[in-house]
Amino acid sequence: MKKSLFTLILGLSQLSAFNVAPVKDDILIRGCDECHFVYQAELLPERSWEKMFVESELNDHFGKKVVLTEQLRERFLDYYLNNASDSKNGKARKKIDNSIPMDRTLLRISQVPYIKSKHKDLPEEMFLKNDKVKSYANCTACHKAERGEYEEDDVEVPNWEKSFFFGWEKR
Ligand code: HEC
Ligand code: HEC
Repeated sequence: MKKSLFTLILGLSQLSAFNVAPVKDDILIRGCDECHFVYQAELLPERSWEKMFVESELNDHFGKKVVLTEQLRERFLDYYLNNASDSKNGKARKKIDNSIPMDRTLLRISQVPYIKSKHKDLPEEMFLKNDKVKSYANCTACHKAERGEYEEDDVEVPNWEKSFFFGWEKR
C-alpha cells in the first residue's frame, strides 16, 4: 500500500514536471545577461522569436534597446528558431505551444497561457510587491531557471515559504 502510494505521488509529480534544456553557449549568455538570463527557446514559438529579433523590436525591447551585431543576432535566431516550442517534439514544448492561440504572437513568456495558469493562484504580491522578485518575468528569482528547471518541487520564493497545510505564506 505504502509503495503504491509512493508510486502514485511520484507519478503525479512527473506529470507536472517541466524542464527545458539550459543555454550553454557563453556567447549567447553574454548577449542578454546585462539585463536578465537567457530565456530558453522552448518557452515561445518561432513566430515570437522571429518578431523579437527584428531590428525595430530590438531597438524597443520592453522599453530598452538591445544592441547586437548582425553575427550575434543570427546566432541567437539560429538557437531560438531551431529549438522553439513549435520547432520539434518535447513535453514542455507541447504544453507551451498548445496553450497559445495560433493568431497570437506573444513576446512575453510570462504571458503564455500555460505559464500564466501556473502562477494564477499565487498572490500577486508574491511577485510585484516582493523586493527580491518585482516582476512575473523574473523567473530566476524563484526557479532554477538558468538550468531550465521549472518544476514545482524546486521552486523557492524569496521572502515566502510553502507549508504542507497552509500553502504559501509570507515569511
Ligand atoms: C538592455 C537590457 C536588456 C537586454 C540586453 C535584453 N533584455 Fe530582454 N528584457 C528587458 C526588459 C527590461 C524586459 C522586461 C522585464 C520585466 O517586465 O520585468 C525584458 C523582457 C524580455 C522577455 C520577456 C520576459 C517575460 O516573460 O515577460 C524576453 C523573452 C526577453 N526579454 C528576451 C531577451 C533576449 C533573448 C535577450 C538577449 C538577446 C534580451 N532579452 C536582452 C531588457 C533587456
Ligand atoms: C515569485 C516567484 C516566481 C516567479 C518570478 C516565477 N515563478 Fe513559476 N512558479 C512559481 C511557483 C510558486 C510555482 C508553483 C506553483 C504551486 O506551488 O502550485 C511555479 C510554477 C511554474 C511552472 C509549473 C511547474 C510544474 O512543475 O508544472 C512553470 C513551468 C513555471 N512556474 C515557469 C515560470 C517561468 C517561465 C517564469 C518566468 C517567466 C516563472 N515561472 C516565474 C513561482 C514563480
